[in-house]
Amino acid sequence: MRKIIINGGKLLKGEVAVSGAKNSVVALIPAIILADDVVTLDGVPAISDVDSLIDIIELMGGSVKRDGETLEIDPRGVKDMPMPFGKINSLRASYYFYGSLLGRYGRAIVGLPGGCDLGPRPIDLHLKAFEAMGASISYETDAMRLATDGQPLHGAHIYMDTVSVGATINTMIAAAKAKGRTIIENAAREPEIIDVATLLNNMGAHIRGAGTDIITIDGVEKLHGTRHQVIPDRIEAGTYIAMAAAIGQGIRVTNVLYEHLESFIAKLEEMGVRMTVEEDAIFVEKQDNLKAVTVRTSPYPGLATDLQQPITPLLLKAEGRGSIIDTIYEKRVNHVPELARMGADISVLGGQIVYQGPNKLVGAPVKATDLRAGAALVIAGLMAQGQTEITSIEYILRGYSNIIEKLTALGADIQLLEA
Ligand code: UD1
Repeated sequence: MRKIIINGGKLLKGEVAVSGAKNSVVALIPAIILADDVVTLDGVPAISDVDSLIDIIELMGGSVKRDGETLEIDPRGVKDMPMPFGKINSLRASYYFYGSLLGRYGRAIVGLPGGCDLGPRPIDLHLKAFEAMGASISYETDAMRLATDGQPLHGAHIYMDTVSVGATINTMIAAAKAKGRTIIENAAREPEIIDVATLLNNMGAHIRGAGTDIITIDGVEKLHGTRHQVIPDRIEAGTYIAMAAAIGQGIRVTNVLYEHLESFIAKLEEMGVRMTVEEDAIFVEKQDNLKAVTVRTSPYPGLATDLQQPITPLLLKAEGRGSIIDTIYEKRVNHVPELARMGADISVLGGQIVYQGPNKLVGAPVKATDLRAGAALVIAGLMAQGQTEITSIEYILRGYSNIIEKLTALGADIQLLEA
């Protein structure tokens, strides 16, 4: 069992570079199996979700070369084989193989997706879209079988009942090689959707409107190789910005696209956080006199649910009473009891998180129950007096590239221990 040990209270300073976006790359890699040639990705983060996806591609018969942040995927050897168990169950984004296998072979047997426990996370919208494109769905033990009747998928007019990142991307992937036109209405607008559409278009797909709520895909017969730079991870950027505001003595977060973080930055400004937006970086000053605010998450361009947990330790430093309302995942509150264990005045009341500050945190043994809760605990550990021991850190390593090295370079006393 691995754990992270933090001796808190150190003042952090310097520069930290954001890696490529996890939520893009976990869709880009499965999408690549639609290509008839090698696709190269640059800016690939060093996270365990990427390791798992590489293993899956290799298991399917594809070949992958990894050199630092560059990934060269040759999908030509990928075979039409069932993928019910193993790595596929370890990450939620394995659902993108439904779309890409259906698009390539017209059938897929893939295990049910795993991932962080944020309460119920249905995939009905993905399945409804595949059915509208001509696939039928049946269930096997721990796996789902999707198949057309021997014909390729066909275009369809799809209205998403709920705005869903995963369902929008999966439909785009499946529709890229479908026969005819697919229109997605009420599509999600996250930057990662534009990134996946850009890759597919550079592979020869015809996708228009990604980044708006209506996306049109005209299916093509073949997709070819290309080279693609993954966009910066806006959630990792937000995490480091929140950390810098909570404990920094002047920290520059680089490789940041400000436009992807506007609602988050606006919320920090409302708290009184002082920072400067530079060309591709954000400089966060040392802070004092922060005020408590209400945080409400919503689909992009609203404040990301994935930043709700990482911003919580910073809120605890602010003066006054505030709340967090997560309209996407109401049950995304696993960090709350752990922060309370560290001395925070925070609780869950009537579907909201309520907090009263300012708080002085003290080190404690805590558990990272999901990826972003883990990030919150790392920040809290850096702020706290004394030692914090974080267990279940596999979640953190799924999504934060070189986090120990990045924080150590800023002056943190943080270690990963193989217990
Ligand atoms: C993606 C992100 C995740 C982020 C989430 C919301 C990836 C790999 N993960 O997850 O980090 O927290 O977006 O921004 O990109 N829903 C349904 N039926 C469905 C699909 C979703 O009801 O078929 C609901 C969900 O329960 C949730 C809402 O729609 O309440 C949004 O979920 P969705 O955008 O699909 O999340 P993911 O794509 O799984």
